[in-house]
Amino acid sequence: MGAMERINNTPLFECLDEEEREALAQVAILKTFPKNTILFSEGDRTDSIYIVHSGKVKVNIIDQNGKEIILSLLGPGEYFGEMAALVEGESRSASVMTRETTKLFVISRNDFKEVLSSHPDMVFNLLKGSLERLRVANKNIESLALMDVYGRIARLFMQLAKSTADKFVIGEKLTHQDIANMVGSSREMVSRVLKELTVGGYISSSKKVITINKKLPYSW
Ligand code: CMP
Repeated sequence: MGAMERINNTPLFECLDEEEREALAQVAILKTFPKNTILFSEGDRTDSIYIVHSGKVKVNIIDQNGKEIILSLLGPGEYFGEMAALVEGESRSASVMTRETTKLFVISRNDFKEVLSSHPDMVFNLLKGSLERLRVANKNIESLALMDVYGRIARLFMQLAKSTADKFVIGEKLTHQDIANMVGSSREMVSRVLKELTVGGYISSSKKVITINKKLPYSW
């Protein structure tokens, strides 16, 4: 997919007309990053906004002991870095790292703010995106506070799964450690739960995909 085409397919920019997209494509620098590149870390004082052209990134927070919580995985058409880009003086609220070879549009704060100030519709799209993330974050707070690990994994899987003819399939390549870091549990516990779900016929997994065969139990 060409650079212009991807800008055309990004919901954030759907309000722009052809000429404006062209102008945005002029200031957006398309860069390719290898797998496992740290794009920035929590607390950094950088301020560009990034739009994923292809590939995948993870948004995470890591504590002093190296324990990680994964806040989100973002793919083509999605954006990140707007929180520091939009609020003067704010540092990065989380770290972002590539999970595979990833192409990103990088737009400087000034260029982005200029486009925003002349396109109120885009401010609205940005707000919609932020509210959607808040909704997901609220659900995650609920899961962490009120559900056990079965429930949290069930909910995560349903968030990530795409429905096919009669099943739900998770195409995202996830290690047990990734899942643990997304649901606030340990790798050992996740392995145990996934084994029980497999033995119970709820899921089947290959190297590439996890298939959900029937409604997952929210507790055991
Ligand atoms: P910023 O604070 O500039 O840098 C980290 C980015 O991660 C942040 O902007 C958002 O784009 C993104 N981010 C932070 N929290 C979440 C979240 N809960 N879900 C998805 N993306 C997030």
